[in-house]
Amino acid sequence: MHVSDRTRQLTPALIDEIKLRTTALRRAGAHVINLGQAIPNLPPLTQAIDAARRALDEDETHIYSPDAGLPALRRQLGETLRAQNGIHADPNSEILITAGANQAFLTALLTLLDPGDRVLLPAPYFFNHHMAVCLAGAIPVEIPLDPSDGFQLRRRELLPYLNPLPRAIVLVTPNNPTGAVYDPQELNDLCQELAGRGIAIITDETYQHFVYEEARHFSPASRPEIRDQVITISSFSKSYSMTGWRVGFLVAPADFVQEALKVQDTMVICASVIAQKAALGALQAPSTALAQRRDVLAQRRQLLLERLPRIPGLSWQPARGGFFAFVQVAGCRDSFQLALDLLQQAHVVTIPGSLFGPYGEGCLRLSYGAVDLSELAQACTRLERFFGTSLTFH
Ligand SMILES: Cc1ncc(COP(=O)(O)O)c(C=O)c1O
Repeated sequence: MHVSDRTRQLTPALIDEIKLRTTALRRAGAHVINLGQAIPNLPPLTQAIDAARRALDEDETHIYSPDAGLPALRRQLGETLRAQNGIHADPNSEILITAGANQAFLTALLTLLDPGDRVLLPAPYFFNHHMAVCLAGAIPVEIPLDPSDGFQLRRRELLPYLNPLPRAIVLVTPNNPTGAVYDPQELNDLCQELAGRGIAIITDETYQHFVYEEARHFSPASRPEIRDQVITISSFSKSYSMTGWRVGFLVAPADFVQEALKVQDTMVICASVIAQKAALGALQAPSTALAQRRDVLAQRRQLLLERLPRIPGLSWQPARGGFFAFVQVAGCRDSFQLALDLLQQAHVVTIPGSLFGPYGEGCLRLSYGAVDLSELAQACTRLERFFGTSLTFH
């Protein structure tokens, strides 16, 4: 069968190779510790599960919702966004419920971009974003961020990329894969500058509830003077452990959402209705639930703060967000092979930095989302042993 150039140009998901090898090792009886998954292993909130159970008996669960999503969910989300992010969005016209943040992202791109448009991607980047930009026929322009600056996005690093004028920039804060939380003041200044030049700001805030120490999350759409240039994307996947439910959202100016609804209708019509009802349940839970989840992850991060410096050859500027340590490995030139060796010899799953683009090469992403404290400690011991005895890296 013919396959379009558009699809063929995408890099295949190399992560699958790691998953296959992990399964094979487990089948053979190995105890494999997974620092690969970008998922918190905490259970979903009972409020979400109860709402889904109740929804089974409601007729409207079994039919399409409005394309933009259930009005009750959009209303509740509007209130949550106001309280948590300072975003004032009209639930009737500025919020679109999607089948996860990835679908929200592709919907945003297909609505925004013409073929050949340039899209700035601070790098290393979340690989699905790169794939989506290519699928939309646009040109990803990578802005390498400095590891020794904790992968912060700085105005001075961005300026050289504004000519020719890009159509959009993609911001992910807290970041996957680096865990960086962009400095609010710097981010605000940068967004003011970009919006002033008519560059759309697509901000993926999927990890907003995972910020530690004195780091603060900032939503560009909270600034009234630039909100007409901002598309905010987020998800219930990580904040509420609902990756399997496939529910996320997009917030943008009403005229943009009106156009995005055509893409939404073509792609999915609407997000799964039972998932929307579960998401509504999650939003109605006391806000302390989110803080408790964050605290669990903060403890794991604390353990990495103590243990990673002891591992020979690894360096990490402790990041304050998400549940990732994006570590540099001295002498590493093939992080994919290194991750395979680590899996084979130490039975620890990590994600090669090169999966997040060429500027991620030489690094590994360690996720502390899906391991409890004792497993994480054990993984660190294995890493210490592996790197202590590996004299040459790839
Ligand atoms: C930055 C970022 N955005 C979006 C997603 C996907 O989210 P969803 O499950 O809502 O599609 C992920 C998943 O890892 C992610 O890291």
